[in-house]
Amino acid sequence: HCLSTTMTIASAFKGTLVHCPSLGQLQVLEDHILLVDHQGFITYVGPADSEASVEFLAKIDISTTIIPSGGFLLPTFCDLHLHAPQFLFQGTGLHLPLMQWLNEYAFKSEESLDSQPELAKAVYIRLAERLRDAGTGAVLLFGTINNTANLILAEAMQTIGIRALVGKLSMDISSRPSYVEPSALSSLHSAEEFIDGCRDLVSSYEPHRRLVEPVITPRFVPTCSDELLQGLGKLARDKGVRIQSHLAEAHEEVQWVLSERHKDDIDVFDNFDLLTEKTVQAHCTFLDTDMLSRMAGSCSAVAHCPLSNSYFSEKPFPLREALDLGVPVGLGTDIAGGYSIDIMNSMRQAVAVSRIRDGTRKLSGGEQSLAIDWKDALYLATRGGATALGLSCGVFQVGAPFDAQCIELYKESNKGVGALDFFEPQSGITLGILEKWWCIGDERNRRDVWIQGQKLDVNNALERA
Ligand code: GUN
Ligand code: FE
Repeated sequence: HCLSTTMTIASAFKGTLVHCPSLGQLQVLEDHILLVDHQGFITYVGPADSEASVEFLAKIDISTTIIPSGGFLLPTFCDLHLHAPQFLFQGTGLHLPLMQWLNEYAFKSEESLDSQPELAKAVYIRLAERLRDAGTGAVLLFGTINNTANLILAEAMQTIGIRALVGKLSMDISSRPSYVEPSALSSLHSAEEFIDGCRDLVSSYEPHRRLVEPVITPRFVPTCSDELLQGLGKLARDKGVRIQSHLAEAHEEVQWVLSERHKDDIDVFDNFDLLTEKTVQAHCTFLDTDMLSRMAGSCSAVAHCPLSNSYFSEKPFPLREALDLGVPVGLGTDIAGGYSIDIMNSMRQAVAVSRIRDGTRKLSGGEQSLAIDWKDALYLATRGGATALGLSCGVFQVGAPFDAQCIELYKESNKGVGALDFFEPQSGITLGILEKWWCIGDERNRRDVWIQGQKLDVNNALERA
């Protein structure tokens, strides 16, 4: 603990830290010190009364941010699956089955942003602000076909300060003649152009301030020719970028792929090298145990979107089985297949769906529990999602970027904050109060958000409490 290290400290926090370093592990670190350097990385975490903490605090010349006793720091959430252009029609048309909904709502809204850059800018800035206010610090995004709009999306995320993996959507087959790329070749050219454009966009920032990166994004098997998928697999390898798509989401989609391509979804992706350790596949509800083992073997991750599944998938994702097999899993909102942008809702829905599965298991005499609990869900929403994206955030440890949210449950002037009216701070941040916040807390409890050590300008919070 030499002085030269302490001189580079940009911010210091003192109070309760809550995080989930691994599945099944929730740590409440009371009265801790956390130090962040000028590049936004955590350089120290330790109990406030330890010798090292006292020594550090004595040497640094910045004031320490005190997390009040009725609050705590938590890593920001990761959203592993969100269609940015569909934010425009969030919460409409959900009476339709998937393929019809795509044609009548999704493709139209995407097309409208591609043809109106000004509208795209307004929608994407607002989306970034809503993510920030919801405590989502990292997001894996589907964009549209057109790169003008995709670069606007990337810029909006970088400007507002959200860590974003942005996908230029690839599709050379479509049910909507005005919303499709003319050929596999032009689609591939456009995907490459986006990768370069997106990297260009952030090249003027220092490496640790670059929040946005491009992702290869075949929409799903039904909208992509073999030629396109093959080219995208190669492009991902050549450019070293991540991959995302939809896999085995709905009955009609799985059947469609079987009848048209004479293969399962997973075989198509695998065949074209699109099932790698850099891949995140949304949904995967129709994967059986063997297929989940293949996901685990390839180190491909799943974006579990329980709300969207309830509308479009006819059945729940086998979450417990996937976790037991070692598949990396995080949570997604799937805006607008899911209508809520708040990962807290995804956590609640993931637990609720798993409990219904477990009830069904019990009634049929099965042995192993299929349920997850709120602590498991909190892991999936933070470190689980970050791991799936290959990010080192989602946990408070030395070397990780300081991507955090300050949750406040108590305010002197109005007792509890938001829905937590009867919380008294003397009892501290217990598992009981954390469960209560997890169940009924909301944006009013979110006081601040930091990404890479930089505080974002959160609009919600206490004024409305
Ligand atoms: N499959 C292909 N495209 C989409 C989409 O936009 N939303 C969902 N939920 N599933 C898809
Ligand atoms: Fe989706």
